[in-house]
Amino acid sequence: MMGMIPVERQALRHRTERLRLVQVSTSDSSKPAKTKTLSLPTSKTAGDDISHSTQPHLMATFLSSKTAAAAIARSAIHHRLRPLSFAGSRSRVPSLHLSLPHVSSLHVGFSQQGGLKSIMATRAMSSTVSAASDPAQLKSAKEDIKELLKTKFCHPILVRLGWHDAGTYDKTIQEWPQRGGANGSLRFEIELKHGANAGLVNALKLLQSIKDKYTGITYADLFQLASATAIEEAGGPKIPMKYGRVNVTTPEQCPPEGRLPAAGPPSPADHLREVFYRMGLNDKEIVALSGAHTLGRSRPERSGWGKPETKYTKDGPGAPGGQSWTVQWLKFDNSYFKDIKERRDADLLVLPTDAVLFEDPSFKVYAEKYAEDQDAFFKDYAEAHAKLSNLGAKFEPPEGISLD
Ligand code: HEM
Repeated sequence: MMGMIPVERQALRHRTERLRLVQVSTSDSSKPAKTKTLSLPTSKTAGDDISHSTQPHLMATFLSSKTAAAAIARSAIHHRLRPLSFAGSRSRVPSLHLSLPHVSSLHVGFSQQGGLKSIMATRAMSSTVSAASDPAQLKSAKEDIKELLKTKFCHPILVRLGWHDAGTYDKTIQEWPQRGGANGSLRFEIELKHGANAGLVNALKLLQSIKDKYTGITYADLFQLASATAIEEAGGPKIPMKYGRVNVTTPEQCPPEGRLPAAGPPSPADHLREVFYRMGLNDKEIVALSGAHTLGRSRPERSGWGKPETKYTKDGPGAPGGQSWTVQWLKFDNSYFKDIKERRDADLLVLPTDAVLFEDPSFKVYAEKYAEDQDAFFKDYAEAHAKLSNLGAKFEPPEGISLD
């Protein structure tokens, strides 16, 4: 039996066999069509993405027997290559046309008899692969995120990163990515510069080495993976996550500024409803998700809110300073609700949008419940967080990928 060798050489070697590669071309219109090569370069494009490149499709046309063509198509689908087009020819020699997005090389293995043995594709080594993520890499990246959390204590900012990527979703807009949401757009400088995202470039920097290591994971997934892992590692509930989010690819696809909530609007309850209802979230979810402020701090130099430091933040861990909502701001529990209800400690933060959770009659029902019952909070938080993480996202495959 033969090993895996590039289809081009295979094809030549099997010139006498019935399967013959006749043409490979790239869909990247900036380059002349290539023939008989399977390795496609990635190309840098202009723009202010931190590391942006586009990935052309690999298009391969085979002249083959009907059975070989069908076998390759089946195998490609099985390996989730999702050929964009598969054209069987009506001519005497059937042809198979494969257009494979985000694939940089394709290996087809044949048995000695010339039958199809295996098909293997290499994902493009592109930092902005817009295809869905690879399950094995997601699992491994999750372990790396756990290690990062152990040394950097960056749980809060990773949660905020995931929330701010997803929270731009507008349910009244059908089209992706104009509708915003969890699509990785927050990696682009233009969006990082939105006022609400002050400081989040640090979260991106923390994740960049993991992004570079796992080229088969989209930014959209990495942000949500990091956030959910941070909640779990801080002692919070397990979030029923799915993955496979497709990335946006250019800064032009970023949402307009102003879709995230402000902390001190004139009418906090109305404002929260306006913003979260636009995302398709309800009162219970607003209150549950606000409970994420059990983690982290507010820094005046970033958001304009909070004290420069308090007795709970002056020594870190992580970069010292800021004002936390809770005493143990790296532990995920229901103390946020207890603390904003009691307001006994001037060193703990209560934003106008936090305070309103115990003032508005509808929000109050949930806030009181969560202050009393941590299990109820964890259950509702886990569901709301998973829902938030899916807002606006386009999944490949459409049902998403579970890591369990
Ligand atoms: C309800 C409306 C919300 C408002 C007005 C709001 C506002 C803020 C503000 C002003 C900060 C301080 C940022 C800084 O100075 O660095 C902050 C931090 C934070 N927010 Fe929110 N937020 C809201 C909802 C949420 C939600 C839904 C989540 C997550 C599910 C979340 C998670 C966080 C976390 C974890 C931090 C701490 C970040 C850190 O320590 O670096 N927030 N938020």
